[in-house]
Amino acid sequence: MKELLGTAGFFGTAGTVGADLSYLLAVVFTAMFTTSWVLAKKGEGTKHHNLVFISMVSMVIYFTVYYFFRQLGVLALEGKEGFGGPEEVYNGVFVPILSVHLFLVTMGLILAFYMVIQGFRSSKKIEGKYVLTEGDLKVRSTTFKKVMLILLGAWGLNQIILTFVRHASWQSSLAWALIFGTIALVISLEKAIEKWLPDGAKRHRVLGRGTMVVYILILVTSTLTYLMLYVIYPAKPV
Ligand code: HEM
Repeated sequence: MKELLGTAGFFGTAGTVGADLSYLLAVVFTAMFTTSWVLAKKGEGTKHHNLVFISMVSMVIYFTVYYFFRQLGVLALEGKEGFGGPEEVYNGVFVPILSVHLFLVTMGLILAFYMVIQGFRSSKKIEGKYVLTEGDLKVRSTTFKKVMLILLGAWGLNQIILTFVRHASWQSSLAWALIFGTIALVISLEKAIEKWLPDGAKRHRVLGRGTMVVYILILVTSTLTYLMLYVIYPAKPV
């Protein structure tokens, strides 16, 4: 698989199959999310929900596979050698764009999980159709405590497995602590978000639009990264 991903790509650029495939999928996912936005705008709550759900599951599968095969994105894979342009462009343009891209991807993944859960919480199925329910939507403090305790328990269990079964490195424990920490932070942020946008339906619309904009920006930054790496400044042959 790794060898296949490293062969010449199908777009006719300097990109490999891995690079072309990940770019193609970035376009497909953005198209799916944008279509689900159009469906929501047309008041097609159920179709919107279905498409968002499929898009999110495929996106998470894609990122997991991508992570295994290409490790944390182009920089880790290509290194500086993958970029054939001048040093100033690398440091002043390419790295900042790539950093913004990685930041947006992280935000996009967190927001996707948040929005799917928020979508279920803020909508009701009426005669088989999802509709947003107007009115205050708050997490009860007992539920909040329960969720935090479950999260703590899951982290503890995972840490026991990491330490005693998998004998994993401290870096791996740290990565997992950061993942669980981020989830806890997002759940805690919900309290602040509730104050800012108490109405569940409005919260879904405002944050949903923000999420959609993040997805579009992810496509913009991945297009720029792709163009710089494989069209404008491909690596010089050694
Ligand atoms: C990544 C996840 C999601 C995003 C980014 C998202 C985004 C949005 C946006 C932007 C709107 C408002 C459209 C507009 O007026 O501009 C919307 C509406 C809506 N969403 Fe979501 N959504 C997500 C997940 C869900 C889920 C999981 C459900 C259901 C369980 C859901 C149910 C609805 C409903 C019922 C509406 C109202 C449609 C109408 O106006 O009739 N959403 N969503």
